[in-house]
Amino acid sequence: MSTIILNGSPKGNNGNSEIFINQFLKGMKIPCDVKYIVKENPKTLAEYVKDFDTIIFVLPLYIHSMPGVTMRFIECLEPAEPSENKSIGFIVQGGFPEASQYKYAERYFSSLSKELNRAYLGTVIKGGSANVSTMSSFMTKKLFKSLERLGEIYEQTHTFDKSIIEDLKNPREFTGFSLKIMKFITKTGLINQMWDKPLKQNGVFDKNLDKPFLGKN
Ligand SMILES: Cc1cc2nc3c(=O)[nH]c(=O)nc-3n(C[C@H](O)[C@H](O)[C@H](O)COP(=O)(O)O)c2cc1C
Repeated sequence: MSTIILNGSPKGNNGNSEIFINQFLKGMKIPCDVKYIVKENPKTLAEYVKDFDTIIFVLPLYIHSMPGVTMRFIECLEPAEPSENKSIGFIVQGGFPEASQYKYAERYFSSLSKELNRAYLGTVIKGGSANVSTMSSFMTKKLFKSLERLGEIYEQTHTFDKSIIEDLKNPREFTGFSLKIMKFITKTGLINQMWDKPLKQNGVFDKNLDKPFLGKN
């Protein structure tokens, strides 16, 4: 069974999706190939991947959805023949911690699988990953082990392990005490600082509430 992993981040091999891919591949005895959507012509890549038994997308969530480069590529994909028994899976990571914000993307991926006549392996969701490249090994240990195990089980069974998917989805939604803590942290301005810093560094902080598409058709 042939598998191709597609990195759907506009940052290509310099982003966090790459870290997720490397951990997944670590679990495989014979690591599969990886292609970077951002570096390829979408039509050529769609033609290239169509013969693979399984396509695994590893991508970030940008504005609650997939990055534009990934969307443009997906639009070039053609459905497989139903008799070919091909499959597709998704590993999505993002900055916001709650898995609930991924539900629309997850629903889309599930119906995309049907449109492409590929069996749906599932969508692995991991929030709170924006700083995964700078986190200490203590903080990433559990996540990396889970991704490695996911890769290992995938190689053996050609499925995504359901218990790992469920575990990585935590926290699904902040409620009760955890919600109170998040509200408190938000009030301190610490969260905004993380978003504001790069805007200030790039001299565009005063434009942070701009709505460039408002009023345009
Ligand atoms: C423009 C932009 C929009 C983003 N939107 C979201 C979002 O809607 N939800 C989320 O959880 N993270 C969001 N993030 C955070 C990224 O998903 C996160 O940093 C991710 O790890 C980036 O992966 P990459 O380095 O592979 O591109 C956004 C980041 C950027 C730069």
